[in-house]
Amino acid sequence: MLSPDYVNNYIDTHLGERQVNKIQHSFPSPRFWNETDVPLDEIGEDRRRLREAAGTAPVFLYIGVPYCIKTDPGKCGYCLFPVEEFQGNAALENYYGYVEREAEMYREQMEGSLLVGAYFGGGTSNLYKAPVYHRIMDTVRRLFPEISKEADLTLEGIPQLFTREKMQAIRDSGMNRVSMGVQQINERLNSFSGRKQTTKHVIQSLEWARELGLSANVDLIFGWPQQTVDTLLEDLETLVSWDVYDITHYELNVGGPTDFALNRYHELPSTLANLELYRAGRDFLLDHGYEQLSTYNFRRPGDPTARDFREGYTTRFDHVDSLGLGYAAITFFGNPMLEPGRSWSFINQRSLAQYKAAVDNGRFPVERGFRHSPEDWLLMVLFRSLISTEIDRVQYRAAFSLDIYEKFATIWDALAERGYAEITPERIKLVGDGAFYAPMISALIAEERYRELREEAARRKKESRPTLPLVRSDQ
Ligand SMILES: C[S@@+](CC[C@H](N)C(=O)[O-])C[C@H]1O[C@@H](n2cnc3c(N)ncnc32)[C@H](O)[C@@H]1O
Ligand code: SF4
Repeated sequence: MLSPDYVNNYIDTHLGERQVNKIQHSFPSPRFWNETDVPLDEIGEDRRRLREAAGTAPVFLYIGVPYCIKTDPGKCGYCLFPVEEFQGNAALENYYGYVEREAEMYREQMEGSLLVGAYFGGGTSNLYKAPVYHRIMDTVRRLFPEISKEADLTLEGIPQLFTREKMQAIRDSGMNRVSMGVQQINERLNSFSGRKQTTKHVIQSLEWARELGLSANVDLIFGWPQQTVDTLLEDLETLVSWDVYDITHYELNVGGPTDFALNRYHELPSTLANLELYRAGRDFLLDHGYEQLSTYNFRRPGDPTARDFREGYTTRFDHVDSLGLGYAAITFFGNPMLEPGRSWSFINQRSLAQYKAAVDNGRFPVERGFRHSPEDWLLMVLFRSLISTEIDRVQYRAAFSLDIYEKFATIWDALAERGYAEITPERIKLVGDGAFYAPMISALIAEERYRELREEAARRKKESRPTLPLVRSDQ
């Protein structure tokens, strides 16, 4: 266990540092996913065994699309997701044909599962023309004849690409929720991303969604270049005045060769300024009747179309089966009931050509993955709980036969002393600025394991390096 001095020193030195991995869906980070031979047959067998033991098994589905419209600067100036430039409708529909074929490859191992939610993301999923939304839901129903009544079936898109016809098709296909990547309503700030989005696009899309009875979420980003508390509050005021019930408020993740990292770094608010933005946004939303469902999600009660959706939240917290289909899609699969080493995270091909080549050859288009040890699985589940701001000690005891407080006591105690966490016999809850620092807290908890993983990776690299001959061959 980390000593109290180490923990306090770590927290002191990281409070003002830029946090990374804001949206930490997995542990460890994908850069440690080195297994190129992911055993899909073994995973399929485990899925069947778990289902037989439990009678049913909840599955979450993600379907990705590679394409986005070209922007200047590229990739909206900040985006770190793998995407490809939109090449026209024929290429898009050709791509979806591959997703249909990949879905078919999973049909047998998914038989008898219950779909508890689906997310059609990307990339930009509302690039599809109207008839494709029906094809997407046909794929879903073929793979999962049984869909939970509470399932959120969400299509993600950008406001300027929604049309009345598409929105109608989304609703008629059986999807029930749209998530709009708005980022900034302020048109001047938003223009830094090169997107041609106007406030009118946002209002119009929200109005269509409401008219058709679709639940609607708006994604905003704080920590944007030149953003101030005033511009942030103006955006939130606008959303509240339009009766947007669901708001996701991400902190900007800065990195890679993006325009914001390379050319606008000096315009970004500091981490402590981001904390001010976070507090202002949170307090404003709480004052206006919103509840904080997770670090990033706020919801106002009373939405007639709402179901329960939280980022990084699953219905049975320790059993995770999230199937990813399509280019760069990620799958998580694990359960404490499995033998050690049979839980997995893996990612599909991030090269569109290789994704298609695999499907053409009848192979699962998986690029690489990580075989979790039970400890790694526990950390992954824990980080999801941290994002949801609440860790249920009773559930952890039942699932992992340990007290999650005792396992990381020095960290929880330090957080409680600083007013970032409240500890009771039943739960540990992030309070105050604790939720803002959830990524930093995850990084601290993961410190020791990351050190081991780095050492393991270095050892493997050394072992695989060919040894140099002691004498030259021509001697
Ligand atoms: C991957 S995008 C896909 C949706 C759509 N293409 C869009 O841009 O809105 C999903 C959401 O992730 C968030 N996001 C993307 N890049 C981010 C970054 N660098 N930092 C924080 N959030 C980010 C945005 O809020 C975005 O709405
Ligand atoms: S932010 Fe959205 S639209 Fe922009 S490049 Fe990323 S996925 Fe595409």
